[in-house]
Amino acid sequence: MLGQLKPQPEDAIIELMGRFKADPRPDKVDLGVGVYRNAAGETPVMRAIKAAERALWDSETSKSYTALAGDAGFHNAMADLVLADSVESTRIAAAATVGGTGALHIALELVKDAAPNATVWASNPTWPNHPPIIKRTGLRFAEYRYFDADARAVDFGAMMADLQTAQAGDIVLLHGCCHNPTGANLTLPEWQQVAALLTERGLIPLIDIAYQGFGDGLTEDAAGTRLIAAQCPEVLIAASCSKNFGVYRERAGVLLAIAADGPTRNVTQANLTALNRLNYSFPPDHGARLVTNVLNDPALRADWEAELEGIRTSMLSLRTQLADELRRLTGSDRFGFLAQHRGMFSRLGATPEQVVALREDHGIYMVGDSRMNIAGLSTDTVPLVAAAIAQTGI
Ligand code: LMR
Repeated sequence: MLGQLKPQPEDAIIELMGRFKADPRPDKVDLGVGVYRNAAGETPVMRAIKAAERALWDSETSKSYTALAGDAGFHNAMADLVLADSVESTRIAAAATVGGTGALHIALELVKDAAPNATVWASNPTWPNHPPIIKRTGLRFAEYRYFDADARAVDFGAMMADLQTAQAGDIVLLHGCCHNPTGANLTLPEWQQVAALLTERGLIPLIDIAYQGFGDGLTEDAAGTRLIAAQCPEVLIAASCSKNFGVYRERAGVLLAIAADGPTRNVTQANLTALNRLNYSFPPDHGARLVTNVLNDPALRADWEAELEGIRTSMLSLRTQLADELRRLTGSDRFGFLAQHRGMFSRLGATPEQVVALREDHGIYMVGDSRMNIAGLSTDTVPLVAAAIAQTGI
């Protein structure tokens, strides 16, 4: 049987991690996988998470199962973080999941059960894992244009034109903030127009929010999601704690499903619980519990918010430093978009050959579509990276 299996292509982002590790050059720069790194190149455990972990070690008396949909305290804390008071809590069903990817998976299975003929629309480009996850559920997949590669900005007209062709009941996958891979995001008035189009055409938003707090701030980054939640009768939200709580390997995420009314919410909750049971029985609890304890403890929360804000502003200053350095070296403003984009990523606009040249000639690693992880830079490496970009003729 196993001999019938087809070879699988390696995941482009994860494969790059391996190549970087194997590169012996001491001055190599990793701008690949979306993991935050500080100036020393480390991905530290956040202070508040470490403190919550110590407290949990002291207070936790059992590792017995929690609930199939995960701990209700985690649902509530995450619903509050993402949605604040944009929607009545009686309309929100929730499931703790295996990271944000687990939340997407459960969301799509829910769609498959409720609306097997729906098409799921994703932005072109999107996170490379989105299309295969969608296709694997057997749901139809379509793309809407999103990015103007020349302007390195959102092509909002094209996005709206494509979404006009979606059928009532179709699912529209949106990045809540910090678009991956482009770094180009919708403005609030654009979110408003998207919300109007979704409601008017009966389309259902599925919002992937994996970088809340990495763009313009915790509240600002959730503004689009909250606006949609306040206006659309049904919304699915896959939220990840990997990045903003730095708990990558704990796999903490949540699916929030907003239903039109309380009774539908209850049926939705029963379905989410059943889907968790079918997929992995109980979701992991450790990371989710740390996140809950940080969010519910005022001192830990304040410290977490301060550290997250430090991460956000350090990425912003790296963006500005790189854009300034490139302006100086090239005598042009064509890299000004780097300072305008938000979140961990920007798409540089290099050809695949230039991406290879940056890697082979300069030890600078970025994803093949020239997505670069800004957090992989440091004030020391920005001049080197800028010089290499200028030299490569991008
Ligand atoms: C990324 O886009 O680099 C991250 O979300 C990590 C991953 O799993 O791809």
